[in-house]
Amino acid sequence: MKQLQEKILADGKVLSDQVLKVDSFLNHQIDPVLMQAIGEEFASRFSNEGITKVLTLESSGIAPAMMTGLSMGVTAVFARKRKSLTLVDSLYTANVHSFTKNETNEISVSKDFIGPNDVVLVMDDFLANGQAALGLLDIVEQAGAALAGIGIVIEKGFQDGGKLLRNRGIRVESLARISSLENGTVKFLEEVAS
Ligand code: G4P
Ligand code: NA
Ligand code: NA
Repeated sequence: MKQLQEKILADGKVLSDQVLKVDSFLNHQIDPVLMQAIGEEFASRFSNEGITKVLTLESSGIAPAMMTGLSMGVTAVFARKRKSLTLVDSLYTANVHSFTKNETNEISVSKDFIGPNDVVLVMDDFLANGQAALGLLDIVEQAGAALAGIGIVIEKGFQDGGKLLRNRGIRVESLARISSLENGTVKFLEEVAS
């Protein structure tokens, strides 16, 4: 997605060979015009799939997931990382291990919001090692729902998540695929078309 690649080049900051900072439009401050375009792009790529629900993980997945839900005309639900006061029983849970942060979190979704009649689009802001996506897939499976695919805003193609998920036959659509962050420079798998 050209608009997103240009935004990354203009406002993204390469923190290391592994990490891209996009706090100014995705992870802290949010650009709603860009999020709307992102929602429209996912809706267009996943049209005709019969999607009934978008599923993401708090917090940074929420903005793109909500805009995708708006474009598709379906609701968005986010898995929680901490138990909420009112979310006490009837939960699907999964463990998500972060290699980056070296910690495991239990994520949870109320059974009220996903069920066997749903066709789910799993979404996240970043795809690195794929562990968050696997946790969300686990929840889709527990719900007995169908999976339409996975929508990712920024995929780091030099980490294993994309391969791991695609090798399972899952359709993964990433709007920007980064091939390298070496030398402080962002390189995309598909170059920005002029
Ligand atoms: P994985 O799920 O693909 O295995 O990823 P990993 O454990 O490495 O990611 C842990 C957290 O770091 C996630 O956010 C993920 O979105 C984020 N992340 C991974 N790589 C990058 C990167 O290059 N840049 C940025 N900005 N974030 C990255 P989280 O802890 O769930 O936080 P939140 O922002 O959703 O609250
Ligand atoms: Na995330
Ligand atoms: Na994040």
